[in-house]
Amino acid sequence: MENPKNLIIVIFGASGDLASRKLIPAIFSLKTQKLMPEKYAIIGVGRTIISNEDFRTKMSDAIISFSEEKVTDKNLATSFAENLFYFPLDSSSAEGFLELKSYLSELSLRLGTGGNYIFYMATPPSLYEVIAVNLSKAGLTDQEIGFRRLIIEKPFGYDLESGLKLNKKLHELISEEQIYRIDHYLGKETVQNLLVMRFANGMFEPLWNRNYIHRIEITSAESIGVEQRGGYYDSSGALRDMVQNHLLQMVGLTAMEPPSSLDANAIRNEVLKVFQSLQPIKEEDVPNQVIRGQYTGSLIRGECATGYRYEKDVNVSSRTETYVAIKFFINNWRWGGVPFYIRTGKRLPTRVTEIVIHFKQTPHHLFQRQSGKLSANQLIIRIQPDEGILLKFDMKEPGAGFNIKNVNMDFHYKDLADIRVPSAYERLLHDVMVGDSTLFSRDDEVETAWKFLEPIQKAWAKNPEIKVFGYPAGTWGPEHANDLIEGDDLTWRYPCKNMADDELYCEL
Ligand code: BG6
Repeated sequence: MENPKNLIIVIFGASGDLASRKLIPAIFSLKTQKLMPEKYAIIGVGRTIISNEDFRTKMSDAIISFSEEKVTDKNLATSFAENLFYFPLDSSSAEGFLELKSYLSELSLRLGTGGNYIFYMATPPSLYEVIAVNLSKAGLTDQEIGFRRLIIEKPFGYDLESGLKLNKKLHELISEEQIYRIDHYLGKETVQNLLVMRFANGMFEPLWNRNYIHRIEITSAESIGVEQRGGYYDSSGALRDMVQNHLLQMVGLTAMEPPSSLDANAIRNEVLKVFQSLQPIKEEDVPNQVIRGQYTGSLIRGECATGYRYEKDVNVSSRTETYVAIKFFINNWRWGGVPFYIRTGKRLPTRVTEIVIHFKQTPHHLFQRQSGKLSANQLIIRIQPDEGILLKFDMKEPGAGFNIKNVNMDFHYKDLADIRVPSAYERLLHDVMVGDSTLFSRDDEVETAWKFLEPIQKAWAKNPEIKVFGYPAGTWGPEHANDLIEGDDLTWRYPCKNMADDELYCEL
């Protein structure tokens, strides 16, 4: 792996959850793997006034609590924290940014980090624009001395109009090459493995099209509710929070054509083409193609689970969706007529993200089977947890006759025992440090994704009669989502039972 140049990383929103739960532990992990440059500093920026010392203590505690691999030696975290600094700043204060500039120049000279800065916006989205404007006004985005890169968290905008506006504003201030729109799903090993699985093997690609595939299903289920993020989530909902970015990116990588090279733009061009080929959903078809739901209170294994409307900072009459399922088509040569089904939700029975490729049935019913159904193979790409790949196919049951049994051929990442799977943020932060934007969303991808969702957002805004179905926390969402799936007896794949059931199991 390439080693990054010496640099300073500035994290706006340093007192937030993202910084302590994900970013600082990820940088710590990069450091322990010797993937940080020789000279570097991390500056936490926030409105709260705290000392360097208090910030260091808070972050070294966060490393102990949230690192994916247990940190047994507390001294490692404490000595890492010596490279951390805190700078109090109100994001709307242009003068404050001039002070930040002097502070960074002085630190950069003192540490010998060569004027390379990365600015990470881990703030509420409403601050992205003002921070970018103030950085630019202070001259902090000029690349005369070193590189200047901006990492922007999702959601990038609220809808097509605001997404376009934010892109336009950023482009007035900095070049597209300096912008890294982060979608942490692209940092997941298994999401990247989609590219390798599809394009490093000769046997999948010939089958990867409308001739052999009946339908594709993508599920991203979470068992947790909105936790402490009710305020943000209530103005966002599952469509903006998960579909616009994570789910559509997975659709892009599953459906794209082979890129001509591994160049960032070659890959992103192919994902963009998929987004451009998404068949627009007409506003009048939204009730038939999109099902939304909201979790209600229930009892999960004897414990009371709060309904969404009673979560902290959520409006008691909120119609925000915590579940969404969509059926759509991709209008191109490869996928014409193949339905894609995607769904995501909070407070579902388990945490699982998987892509299920349902192959077409055999053309002829040759063997006896108990169900009387024709055979249909499934390839399941498990993104998380228990990352792996599973192929389901039929075998002869030992004994007389030709009875058929469906069996699994499976690969688990954990079987690569000596290989550590890096966290998504580690991978993505390292990529920004070395200037590789392959796994970041480009302006046109984000805009095209919003464009696809626009009729859904409009239909929901205009027609309050489009139902928000309640579903008890711990179940698989509204049953109406099954109506989306075309074909007799076909349903979503349910990798485990409802949480409310006595036994919880999760089968890959
Ligand atoms: C985030 C969403 O982008 O992804 C959260 O804002 C969601 O609402 C999270 O919980 C899920 O990420 P992961 O990696 O746990 O699947």
